[in-house]
Amino acid sequence: SPMSVSSHSSALVFELKARCSTTQARASILHLPHGSVELPIFMPVATQASLKGLTAEQLEETGCRLCLNNTYHLGLKPGQAVLDAIGGAHKLQGWNYNILTDSGGFQMVSLLKLAKVTEEGVRFLSPHDGSPMLLTPEHSMSLQNSIGSDIIMQLDDVIQTTSPDHERMKEAMERSIRWLDRCIASHQYPQKQNLFCIIQGGLDLKLRRQCCEAMVLRDTPGIAIGGLSGGEAKDDFCKVVHACTEVLPEGKPRYVMGIGYPEDLIVAIALGADMFDCVWPTRTARFGNAITSTGVLNLKHASYSEDFSPIEPGCGCSCCRPKEVGGMGISRALIYHLAAKETAGAHLLTMHNVHHLLSLMRMVRNAIIEDRFPQFVQEFFTKYFKARR
Ligand code: GUN
Ligand code: ZN
Repeated sequence: SPMSVSSHSSALVFELKARCSTTQARASILHLPHGSVELPIFMPVATQASLKGLTAEQLEETGCRLCLNNTYHLGLKPGQAVLDAIGGAHKLQGWNYNILTDSGGFQMVSLLKLAKVTEEGVRFLSPHDGSPMLLTPEHSMSLQNSIGSDIIMQLDDVIQTTSPDHERMKEAMERSIRWLDRCIASHQYPQKQNLFCIIQGGLDLKLRRQCCEAMVLRDTPGIAIGGLSGGEAKDDFCKVVHACTEVLPEGKPRYVMGIGYPEDLIVAIALGADMFDCVWPTRTARFGNAITSTGVLNLKHASYSEDFSPIEPGCGCSCCRPKEVGGMGISRALIYHLAAKETAGAHLLTMHNVHHLLSLMRMVRNAIIEDRFPQFVQEFFTKYFKARR
């Protein structure tokens, strides 16, 4: 049954369009301050105010209308004063579509081994001058308010899902709830920027359910599932996503953080998730890897040196599209030869990879709407994992 929901203090409308009759998969439209996006969606990560060398125009060409920025990076460079002077990250980047910012803590804990979490916030040493710094929930909100992103994330206490320390896991989950309350209390623009909570609790389904219950009561406009993508087993991943989606409200977007392998996206969608982000498609492009419907191809392999077919035949991205129809008509052989020189080949593959995942999401969405999602999943897996050379 189609429905539209906006929570009491939000800058979005979530419009549910269709539900799969046999899985939990959903198709919806998320109306945001910088335009509407169709869900399920993959959001590429544009760390330094650009997508690893792509311009805003090139990112737009991939079909992207919602990308991810990191509070941690923007807070260091250009810093809050410059963001305030310019009027936020949209203006800084010349990007007139939507931006989601992660809160910063996860990046610090995963990038800086020296980060230390206390009830106040995350303590770490500045990578610039080694001086001690503290990222609190209030400071993360203030930075994200200055960035002006359309979706902002709460500061959360993240630990490796594979950590054996159950007490620490419970503490991190409970602290994330307390930090959510501090984020809600200090968020200056709830009518302009949508704050999402982040469910924690590791691989313990009871902790996850408790966390869902507490966070759902806080009534944020959207809900994220965090703490995954940390090398956990696939069946643990599935159990956690399912335990959460099962108890989450139908009328809000659900975002599984940090996943980007096509097979993980498809499985999470089947379990009722709507939004995803990951650095993998852009990072792997820099290693010469092309994501295609028949699997990942490493175009640095000598077997491609005389392969004049497109990266992916039929792909609509501006690299693969033939010159006659306005594309660049780039061949695998060209990427192979450019790969030696790094950047040019990497930019082209980045564009292709992002376009590929966005187009996969569009196909999934159409399959859900036409109620043929299970067949789609079957065909996807057969093709993607088919024995290949
Ligand atoms: N990115 C991937 N996983 C997480 C998480 O658990 N928390 C945050 N803030 N960002 C993430
Ligand atoms: Zn392509």
